[in-house]
Amino acid sequence: MRTNRVDAEKERNAEKLLNDLRTFQSISLDNVRTKYNCSYHDITEYLNLIKSWGYKITNSQNILTFISAPDKLIDSEIAYALPTKFIGNRIKAYQTVSSTNDTATKFAEQGAEEGMVVVSELQTKGKGRFNRNWYSTEQKGIYCSILLRPTFKPEHAPALSLMTAVALADTFQEFSNTEVQIKWPNDILLNQKKTAGILTELSADKNKINHVIVGVGINLNHIRDDFPLELQQIATSLAIENNFAINRVEFLQTFLTYFESAYIDYKIDRLKSMHDKLLSYSSLLNSHVELSNGHEVISGKVIDINQDGALVLNRNGETKIINSGEITVLKK
Ligand code: BTN
Repeated sequence: MRTNRVDAEKERNAEKLLNDLRTFQSISLDNVRTKYNCSYHDITEYLNLIKSWGYKITNSQNILTFISAPDKLIDSEIAYALPTKFIGNRIKAYQTVSSTNDTATKFAEQGAEEGMVVVSELQTKGKGRFNRNWYSTEQKGIYCSILLRPTFKPEHAPALSLMTAVALADTFQEFSNTEVQIKWPNDILLNQKKTAGILTELSADKNKINHVIVGVGINLNHIRDDFPLELQQIATSLAIENNFAINRVEFLQTFLTYFESAYIDYKIDRLKSMHDKLLSYSSLLNSHVELSNGHEVISGKVIDINQDGALVLNRNGETKIINSGEITVLKK
């Protein structure tokens, strides 16, 4: 019993010290001793704990200096200095889950609040659209799900995928030197290859949304061999296209920030305020495409994406509205 209480206190103090080191970068041992009213031996124990979490801290001439955080998606690391108001108000980071969407759904069913974010270093049953698998290489990407509880009608939920795509594209633009595109309705492309996908799952009664889970899979620091052979021609990562790896925590924090801002806009006027941006990112605009929705094949030139997130085609002067389906590009 006693050991548990002492351990918990040690852990709390180690977390506080870590926060101070992150904030001030360097602190003298004397300052730590005074502030925490503890011995040098206690400080050594806190530092050992912090180091066991993967942080690099140096001690030179009795000055502690924060060197680096581990390349891990840790709850406190993601939450630290996250500038959002409600997205990420609760963050649960796992080493392995079957699917972050499924874990987030469980939290939603237990009453978790809007804004909760679930991330995992690895998914054993990551889900894609059309019941496909999402391939999740350990510690290379971001596999995350965001819980939303919007009060708008269920029919406005599907276009949250495009809203998320805009937030993701904005994020990629900050981190990547290569052109980023959105392939309607839920893919992010770098150099024409898929680098992220979005799976939005809705739980609703008749006219009321219970919750929406927005799941995002992002390929960031993968090398080509991280993808199975059959994906190597169609999938890519930010690192493959740019020849550098990036800090996944910073990428996620930036994405959550863009996401929150896009969601606030979306609740006001849906895709209206981001329409121009959406079109400028769109890989399909002005392309001739073919689309199969199970019982018919529709083809035409893409002329717009409307307020509901539907693709607008022109086919011999006639306008066709496409709400869902799998697109094949015929020619530009
Ligand atoms: C697609 O491109 O078909 C959508 C892929 C979505 C994958 C993400 S990874 C995190 C979240 N959890 C899942 O099981 N799927 C989504």
